[in-house]
Amino acid sequence: MNCNIQKFFWAIITFSCIIITVHSQSKTNTTSAANADSFILACGATTDSTDANGRKWTSDTKFITSNNNSLSVTAKSQDPSLPSTVPYMLARIFQSEATYKFPVSPKYRHWIRLHFYPSSYNNFDPLNSFFSVTANGFTLLNNFSASITAEALTQAYIIREFTMIKIESGFLDLTFTPSNSYNDSFAFINGIEIISMPEIFQSVSMVGFSDQNMEAEFYTMQTMFRLNVGGQYIPATDDSDLSRIWYDDSPYIYGAGLGVTTEADKNVTIAYPSKDSKYIAPLDVYRTARSMGPNATVNRNYNLTWIFDIDVNFTYLVRLHFCDYRLDKVNQMVFTIFINNQTAEQEADVIAWSGGKGVPVYKDYATYVNGKNGDDQLWLALHPDVEVKPEFYDSILNGLEIFKLNDTKGNLAGPNPVPSPMKAEAESQQGKFTSHSKLSKGGVIVGSVLGSVAGLGLIVALIGIFMHKKKTDKKELSSSTNSWLPIYGSSRSSGTNTTSKSSGSSRISNLGGGFCRHFTLAEIRIGTDDFSESRVIGVGGFGKVYKGFIDGNTKTVAIKRANPSSEQGVHEFLNEIELLSKLRHRHLVSLIGACEENNEMILVYDYMANGTLREHLYKTKNNNQTLSWVQRLGICIGASRGIHYLHTGAKFTIIHRDVKSTNILLDEKWVAKVSDFGLSKTGHTLNQTHVSTIVKGSFGYLDPEYFRRQQLTDKSDVYSFGVVLFEVLCGRPALNPSLAKEQVSLADWAILNYKSSLEEIIDPHIKDEIYPECLKQFTETAVKCLSDNGLDRPSMGEVLWNLEYCLQLQKNPDGPKVVAKQKANDAYALYATLLSIDEEEDEKSDKFEDHSANAVFSQIVNPKGR
Ligand SMILES: *[C@@H]1O[C@H](CO)[C@@H](O)[C@H](O)[C@H]1NC(C)=O
Ligand SMILES: *[C@@H]1O[C@H](CO)[C@@H](O)[C@H](O)[C@H]1NC(C)=O
Ligand SMILES: *[C@@H]1O[C@H](CO)[C@@H](O)[C@H](O)[C@H]1NC(C)=O
Ligand SMILES: *[C@@H]1O[C@H](CO)[C@@H](O)[C@H](O)[C@H]1NC(C)=O
Ligand SMILES: *[C@@H]1O[C@H](CO)[C@@H](O)[C@H](O)[C@H]1NC(C)=O
Ligand SMILES: *[C@@H]1O[C@H](CO)[C@@H](O)[C@H](O)[C@H]1NC(C)=O
Ligand SMILES: *[C@@H]1O[C@H](CO)[C@@H](O)[C@H](O)[C@H]1NC(C)=O
Ligand SMILES: *[C@@H]1O[C@H](CO)[C@@H](O)[C@H](O)[C@H]1NC(C)=O
Ligand SMILES: *[C@@H]1O[C@H](CO)[C@@H](O)[C@H](O)[C@H]1NC(C)=O
Ligand SMILES: *[C@@H]1O[C@H](CO)[C@@H](O)[C@H](O)[C@H]1NC(C)=O
Repeated sequence: MNCNIQKFFWAIITFSCIIITVHSQSKTNTTSAANADSFILACGATTDSTDANGRKWTSDTKFITSNNNSLSVTAKSQDPSLPSTVPYMLARIFQSEATYKFPVSPKYRHWIRLHFYPSSYNNFDPLNSFFSVTANGFTLLNNFSASITAEALTQAYIIREFTMIKIESGFLDLTFTPSNSYNDSFAFINGIEIISMPEIFQSVSMVGFSDQNMEAEFYTMQTMFRLNVGGQYIPATDDSDLSRIWYDDSPYIYGAGLGVTTEADKNVTIAYPSKDSKYIAPLDVYRTARSMGPNATVNRNYNLTWIFDIDVNFTYLVRLHFCDYRLDKVNQMVFTIFINNQTAEQEADVIAWSGGKGVPVYKDYATYVNGKNGDDQLWLALHPDVEVKPEFYDSILNGLEIFKLNDTKGNLAGPNPVPSPMKAEAESQQGKFTSHSKLSKGGVIVGSVLGSVAGLGLIVALIGIFMHKKKTDKKELSSSTNSWLPIYGSSRSSGTNTTSKSSGSSRISNLGGGFCRHFTLAEIRIGTDDFSESRVIGVGGFGKVYKGFIDGNTKTVAIKRANPSSEQGVHEFLNEIELLSKLRHRHLVSLIGACEENNEMILVYDYMANGTLREHLYKTKNNNQTLSWVQRLGICIGASRGIHYLHTGAKFTIIHRDVKSTNILLDEKWVAKVSDFGLSKTGHTLNQTHVSTIVKGSFGYLDPEYFRRQQLTDKSDVYSFGVVLFEVLCGRPALNPSLAKEQVSLADWAILNYKSSLEEIIDPHIKDEIYPECLKQFTETAVKCLSDNGLDRPSMGEVLWNLEYCLQLQKNPDGPKVVAKQKANDAYALYATLLSIDEEEDEKSDKFEDHSANAVFSQIVNPKGR
């Protein structure tokens, strides 16, 4: 087999002189190549429309060659994570083979992007849809189920991107064929983009075959991954003319070896070496990077590694983007690049390649992945090249793309991904939990609890009250949750405005159902002293947070202002407004209002006088006293209550996705409030939680299972909260890259050490305050939260119960022995019903919870108290 491959590549090499001439010709005309022809079609639409980013989508009707077998349909429901109604809410359905024909310039390569939203359309169930898509002899998709793919990737919609070689005939034929292995099968498509592009692929060296090259120019490819390493999501509208989307790389990093992310200093100019380089990647990709970290000893002992799930039996082109904006000399940093455990580049020296500081450069490598060892993964690893003795033992990467190349039969299709059985189980578990807390089953639980927990007559009376209350609350709730509106109202899905940065408040005006107050920019400027730097109380990924005053200086507020220069985060902004304006809870930070004017995106919140939990745990300011153990427990309980409410309290399950100590805020009375819902995701109902499009979150807190499988459940929040619990106990950050390798990640370190040397890791400030029983209970709970498998983690309700129990153990060190394990479990069941009853909505019921549920709890744990 090797022999064949070698012959093949020799054949290619003999061709290369010819190729090079062709190549340079095409290069002279690249500038006109981008968008020489471009078709952006909303399938099933009869008129032109504009999406949320201001891109115009035209009707697909005139490109279908046989128009007698297709149907134009509308999706039955709109998933909250859809970025825009256009093109996803309309689709075209084909019940037999159908072809789109596009006239294209034979001079250029073309992007083909296919958008699928697997929802119910009329009587068409997306589960029945299996189909293939071919284009000019290439099979792009085969036996493709958008529904299975979306489920497995926990995405609401799927975008597939291909880059098609030059088509000499001048016509691109895109054919959809429903599978004939299934009855009632059909094909559907929501959006098609065909965009001409310059030839950006050339000769590529084969990893593992020294001095052998392949000519990538002759391949049609599928984009598998496109990452802005060390940086953020870059939307299509911010790419250089080729409308590519760049994602965050952190979900693909292996283990805890995250390295550090850096951003180019403002005074460093990053400039393309030539004018065509802009088609390779936008400058934003080169402005951020991930490197290994400052400690040479640590760096020598690990590999900065990314892992990607791919299809076997294909050749992959791995394109690495580099730009060093800190060093400027050759041999200052030299590293080795491994792809699938083979050396792709022995001595990578970015400055030597690029010629200087701030100059982007990219390198391509090709590798064939066979399924020999059942491996369907591609590993990329960087390691300092110690042998050449560079000045710094470090390595760097700014961007990464992985393309799958057509095989000899012109095929690019892989199998449908398999949804993880774990996820299905997690969902059914969650369903179980919620059915427990439904009122209809409440009676059963109460009965059994009464049988085993003796002498709690008081509770019965209480439950009566709660149930009554719940019934009345339910009515109020349904009237308010009905106003949950799609994030992009119809006013934006059509019409002619071409930029999403339009002034006015069109996007937020229909949100909030009355909760969300509007502020003018003038009011905000007055309230913050014209965004005075002296008022800055925090800086996040989104932008700066200011302390401000409103209503004639009578009310102190926190004002979060999005970085005005970037489009990044618009989605998060709208997401947060929509979510927060629907939620009211004592342990969630309240949104007061918003301002969207003059391209500004500003959110106004209640001011939290005592700042973040993190700043009271370590690196405390001089005037900050350290928190006592009981205070810390109280804060953890409050925060877990807030998160528990997100998971189960609202009509929609809300997964926070970024639980960490900087997102737990403290008001003047030290009440914990969970903040920052910018990344949150909602599921439609409690037992349908396949959400999430891009893995997000913060290093050190990210659920390893979410990392691996990109499947988001509420247990990801439980994991992150487990890290917070250890942070609270140990008084150190979740990640501390300056420590020895095994100590960098708090989660890993705690799991390894809690049994053997728990004493050593406890914050010395509180060590002597904690009663051993309480410590044991607390640690057990935190460790369970960090279970590798989401199913082994407790629900947030159980975490809350356990923390309440800890607090009782701490307050009454003699009392707890009264509660036998079994009784504790029964008590939990009861407690869960109480929680679900009173954590429904608004602050009124919350007061109820704080006094009554706690009172009941104390009754159970501490019988003396009665
Ligand atoms: C580049 O392409 C444009 C349009 O396709 C064409 O008009 C022009 O002559 C080309 N220029 C060169 C130098 O080939
Ligand atoms: C659709 O039209 C094509 C010709 O354009 C014809 O061959 C085919 O039989 C028609 N199909 C149906 C279902 O009418
Ligand atoms: C399709 O339907 C026919 C008759 O209704 C049945 O005999 C056949 O087994 C079905 N095929 C599949 C793949 O379900
Ligand atoms: C850029 O600014 C940093 C401090 O922000 C400084 O250390 C560095 O020397 C400056 N570099 C140049 C080229 O001016
Ligand atoms: C990959 O190719 C090998 C050898 O041709 C074959 O045995 C194997 O089944 C293929 N794997 C897949 C997933 O197609
Ligand atoms: C690379 O090596 C690691 C261990 O060093 C192994 O777990 C992994 O499976 C290997 N990957 C491939 C693609 O061979
Ligand atoms: C880094 O990866 C390479 C290739 O997989 C492997 O040979 C080497 O042992 C790794 N080094 C470390 C320190 O893990
Ligand atoms: C796909 O790639 C192969 C190389 O493996 C090439 O020979 C072939 O012509 C390409 N196109 C088609 C349609 O097979
Ligand atoms: C089509 O995909 C489904 C789901 O992944 C799979 O069960 C089935 O075996 C596939 N059928 C064919 C013909 O490959
Ligand atoms: C680097 O890490 C090692 C432990 O791996 C530690 O002993 C050493 O002090 C660290 N060096 C610096 C400069 O922080």
